[in-house]
Amino acid sequence: MIDYQSIIDTIVTHSKEATNRGIVASYIPELANVSSQKFGIYILDANKKSYSSGEALEGFSIQSISKVLTLAFSFGLVGDELWKRVDVEPSGDPFNHLSLLEQENGIPRNPFINAGAIVIADILLSRLKKPKEEFLSFIQELTNDSSIRYNEKVALSEKRTGYKNYAAASLLKSYGNLHNDVESVLDFYFYQCSLEMNCQQLTSAFYIFMNHGKCQRGKIYLTTNQVKRINALMLTCGFYDEAGEFAFEVGLPGKSGVGGGIVALLPNTYCVATWSPGLNAKGNSKLGMAALEELTTKTGHSIF
Ligand code: DON
Repeated sequence: MIDYQSIIDTIVTHSKEATNRGIVASYIPELANVSSQKFGIYILDANKKSYSSGEALEGFSIQSISKVLTLAFSFGLVGDELWKRVDVEPSGDPFNHLSLLEQENGIPRNPFINAGAIVIADILLSRLKKPKEEFLSFIQELTNDSSIRYNEKVALSEKRTGYKNYAAASLLKSYGNLHNDVESVLDFYFYQCSLEMNCQQLTSAFYIFMNHGKCQRGKIYLTTNQVKRINALMLTCGFYDEAGEFAFEVGLPGKSGVGGGIVALLPNTYCVATWSPGLNAKGNSKLGMAALEELTTKTGHSIF
């Protein structure tokens, strides 16, 4: 029997001792107000047993982690049609990189770089009558938690400063790979990124990726095959130009966000979420990555 509680308590002790905690993102001004001292970790296992340590119940901006959830929502709605507009290859470039998009005629490398997530947002906009409300309801239903909200201040803060995303959306539009107008798609995209969730809620949302598409209450959202594809994308593209490093150190499919969150999962076994706002040079949570390395090394379990 693995003693998850004692392992995560030790991880929290190590995180408290860490002096180099990375740098809190400030290119979205509202995110810069968060303390780099925060650290939380939460595990939800396949038997719905949970383990919590540190500030695991404090909400934070999930940012790019939302890209997995919009992908899941749109994949469930439109199926494989989606892959005509976004590729499934790692980019080896930062999340907001643009030149590959031009070289490859407006088809983003994958759904987790910003350009790819903007195409997914566009697909949802075309499909849904009230995209923001319906996406929020999807997350609330998935987690069985109606307290989850967008953080409007964060969304508007990014709307004022998200020039690279305006550039990406404009490029996509010029190649005919954006069907709605740039403003409306980015408005939805900035809101999805502003979702505020804690580590517990994130493990609950990602339970479907650990459990063949079925949520904790037994409702089926995705097929086993669709979950295989999303997990493969998390493994190969979830950490942008650090996806190789994450696979090497941690060995789990996962996704990061510039709010300092990471969610990862061991299929059929557990989901884990960490939160530590300080980022490394590649824009991924510094202590979050170290924590997950410690978890998979101490348990001796990873997908490999
Ligand atoms: O579009 C952006 O730049 C942010 N809303 C999300 C970026 C992000 O979280 C990258 N992940 N580590």
